[in-house]
Amino acid sequence: MQRHVGGMLYIAKKMIKNIPVNNVSFNGNEKKYLSECIESGWISHEGPFVEKFEIQFSKYIGRKYGVAVSSGSAALDIAVIAAGVKKGDEVIMPTFTIISPALSIIKAGAIPVLVDSDPDTYNMNIEEIENKITPKTKAIIAVHIYGLPINIDPLLALAKKYHLKVIEDAAQMHGQTYKGKKCGSFGDISIFSFYANKVITTGEGGMILCDDLETTNHCKKLRNLAFEAGGPRFIHQEIGYNCRMTNMQAALGVAQLEQIESFIEKKRAIGKYYNEHLSFLINYGYNLPIPTTGYADNIYWAFTLVAPDDKQKTHCVEYLNQNKISTREFFTCMHQQPVFNKLNLFTNESHPVGEQLSAKGFYIPSGIGITLQELDRVVINLKNSVFGFLIIALCLNFYKTIKIMGRAVNQNVPLELI
Ligand SMILES: Cc1ncc(COP(=O)(O)O)c(C=O)c1O
Repeated sequence: MQRHVGGMLYIAKKMIKNIPVNNVSFNGNEKKYLSECIESGWISHEGPFVEKFEIQFSKYIGRKYGVAVSSGSAALDIAVIAAGVKKGDEVIMPTFTIISPALSIIKAGAIPVLVDSDPDTYNMNIEEIENKITPKTKAIIAVHIYGLPINIDPLLALAKKYHLKVIEDAAQMHGQTYKGKKCGSFGDISIFSFYANKVITTGEGGMILCDDLETTNHCKKLRNLAFEAGGPRFIHQEIGYNCRMTNMQAALGVAQLEQIESFIEKKRAIGKYYNEHLSFLINYGYNLPIPTTGYADNIYWAFTLVAPDDKQKTHCVEYLNQNKISTREFFTCMHQQPVFNKLNLFTNESHPVGEQLSAKGFYIPSGIGITLQELDRVVINLKNSVFGFLIIALCLNFYKTIKIMGRAVNQNVPLELI
């Protein structure tokens, strides 16, 4: 009988569907537009959807020009060069972010200068930036992290004061606004990613946006092996890249863009639901995302949790994963990256807020396709995980106390001396 019940439980657990951290929603014109590419034979970068996507997305963000590329990282590679960053320059960026901006700076021969994070929004701490500016500083990469924009007005004021370029990394921030204006419309150049986990996706993909025609043409040249527009075909004057977006990727992008407002609405509804149903976590020392700041409402690209310590994070993540709920670790800070330390970069640096975020933070499923039942499953499992940890901790404490009392009795020693 016992074996029978055990077997049933095993089968039931096997049948539970995994809840991914993110999932895609292709319920619009994706198939139709992709079929058009296949039927017409326009499958490479040459094809009508690329320009259509550039025009429509730049208009949506409120910028004059868009340059579609193969990823958000490629967009950063090009944006850094187009911003005029050269060998020996310094570029200020947050330590707590994805590795892409640091790589772009280093590949341009320049030096990343790291700034710690704001403990509430996880974005770069604006107050630390001015101290990092030197005569070698050429630009600031302003990254918006997880759902709340960086407080960009004071950053723009600093850039103006010191004549620095601003590259705005809005990779995660489709449709988010700062004081009512779209993120991605602030930097001299801004970039987006359309990787599969982003609000709208092209599978892999990215876009550079700006308002300056000359910079736009330079970006277009750089993405296409630096072929000279109108020049002799195979004569090149500059180092270029092949990071062209295909017509098929752009077809997905156009279809996804048609649905962006409903995607954002869903993201915000998921964030609101979790914030309401997970508020008990605050009593156990967890940090939940801030719903709103003076300049923006959270768009919850990722729904983040910061545990009270790394042990509790590990327990929680393992518990969720065992129960088929996927999670994703927070970024690891740039100054803690072995690849950079091996290059003798950032070796003696300490950025305590970023370090704490990296050690204790993770995010839980919030894909556009997630169902109400799945959200509830995440909430219930988080409750079980936190209470489980508490019971283990209580048992350990009880065991320790009994052991101490036992020693006191055996050795006939007053308890306070043990
Ligand atoms: C803030 C940020 N910048 C840049 C990138 C790089 O984008 P991609 O993965 O498309 O190269 C990402 C990717 O997630 C990101 O989160």
